[in-house]
Amino acid sequence: MDRLQEIARRRTFAIVSHPDAGKTTLTEKLLLFGGAIQVAGAVKSNKIKRAATSDFMEIEKQRGISVATSVMAFEYGGLKINILDTPGHQDFVEDTFRTLTVVDSVIVVVDSAKGVEAQTEKLMEVCRRRHTPVIVFVNKLDRDGLDPFDVLDELESKLSITVSPMTWPAGMGHGFRGVWNRHAGRFCIFSPHGKQDSEDVVIVDDVRDPLLTQRLGYAAEKLAEDLDMVGGVYPQFDRGRWLKGEIAPVFFGSAINNFGVKELLDCFVEIAPPPGDVLAEERSVSPGEEKFSGFVFKIHANMDPRHRDRLAFLRIVSGSFQRNEAYYHVRLERQLRFSSPHAFLADKKEIVDEAFPGDIVGLPDSGNFKLGDTLTAGEILHYRGVPSFAPEHFRYVDNADPMRAKQLSKGLSELLDEGVAQLFTSLTSGRKIVGTVGVLQLEVLQYRLEHEYNAKCRYQPIEMHKACWVSSDDPDVLAEFRRKREASCALDRHGRLVFLAHSAWAIKLAQDDFPRIQFHYSSEF
Ligand code: G4P
Repeated sequence: MDRLQEIARRRTFAIVSHPDAGKTTLTEKLLLFGGAIQVAGAVKSNKIKRAATSDFMEIEKQRGISVATSVMAFEYGGLKINILDTPGHQDFVEDTFRTLTVVDSVIVVVDSAKGVEAQTEKLMEVCRRRHTPVIVFVNKLDRDGLDPFDVLDELESKLSITVSPMTWPAGMGHGFRGVWNRHAGRFCIFSPHGKQDSEDVVIVDDVRDPLLTQRLGYAAEKLAEDLDMVGGVYPQFDRGRWLKGEIAPVFFGSAINNFGVKELLDCFVEIAPPPGDVLAEERSVSPGEEKFSGFVFKIHANMDPRHRDRLAFLRIVSGSFQRNEAYYHVRLERQLRFSSPHAFLADKKEIVDEAFPGDIVGLPDSGNFKLGDTLTAGEILHYRGVPSFAPEHFRYVDNADPMRAKQLSKGLSELLDEGVAQLFTSLTSGRKIVGTVGVLQLEVLQYRLEHEYNAKCRYQPIEMHKACWVSSDDPDVLAEFRRKREASCALDRHGRLVFLAHSAWAIKLAQDDFPRIQFHYSSEF
């Protein structure tokens, strides 16, 4: 197969959800379909157990295990599918945000009993900003949950997206009978534990066909009524609109029972886009270009202080990546060679000789990489990189050991490069403030400074709701904002102006007072 064919068959996506909605279970079923794993339970090690929520070391250990399953590749329908896994733990949601910036599409899992939960809203905001096409899987229909129309209403109102149901459930909980595939005109009868066989599929042209009534009884009538309503209210799926992130196809099912999952996967392979063009500061780069390029979107550090080794995750954008080939590290202005790049399979990683756009390779790293770094075949390219997201937890950070100021500054700088936290400098006091999206990140920072850099920092509380980046078309307006709101302003590490808001209300007030200032919740604007 030549390079262009290899690229055309890559599909790279992420599965995201609020914890416990069924992301791990669905991932596992997809891998089973692809034959990448043979037994259920193989992906479980990737899950951060709930018991560990207050013990970040335990979480980090589990995260270490999960590196191997950060990317899971499998073959299905002639395609090579790369699933990028995301940490379920909400304190590491920033990792998930970053992962969303390198995928070509996303599957969002929603628990039918809980509807759209807080974390899903946040994740969707990132997708919406990037116009990433999203498919929704409404899970756990085998349990009593919200009325499917209410779930769709929530999806539309909370996620601000138009939905188009591709399948529709008949009943739920104990009364769950199966799903109607609107596209194929067939009904799959639900039987628990994934024992689907051909007898459980009723193929009829019309949902009012007596054959269906015969099999479903009263549920068939309700299904027909529901479908009349669905047809009247929701638009037909339109791939063009989907690719622009304007409409989301919705599937109903039960991941644990492997029900409705095949419909989802078959639709995914039909509609999901191959790797697209990626914008660098210099130009737009297309995957089919002959010359290699890629960028680092995630750095995973080993928690073992004796080996300060890290794994940099590189998304390949163009050309092909070859083991032992020298590539240009644009920021360091140096050639680097990689003798053991990792590719990731279902539950293991192995050394790879060649990889293509859409693929992710893990590069063992001893400190050469920062988030967003670009590697090329020689051209000077800067991928827009990986944005930072508006932090919500803040502390003043002070040096707790004056003899080790240098170590602290080095440690902070390297850990910030890795994306562990963000650092701001107050305009008025000059004090350093660390900000994180999840609260455990603060503990991770302190622990790693001490154990990896032999440096101690002390945190002091600071009353703060959110930090957002501010900009304006008019430099005078920005200068005026800076002057009038100096006490609430800080600079990020790149010297950009950030508004430190004490409350949601303070942001609203500032927006009203300064209509010509834009407030951004990610550093990418
Ligand atoms: P997550 O990765 O999104 O956090 O969720 P995960 O797949 O781990 O699923 C969370 C819980 O929901 C698990 O139960 C899982 O078995 C259950 N689950 C997933 N899909 C379905 C479904 O379709 N129907 C029902 N009824 N339950 C489902 P658990 O008890 O927390 O874990 P486990 O002991 O089963 O592993």
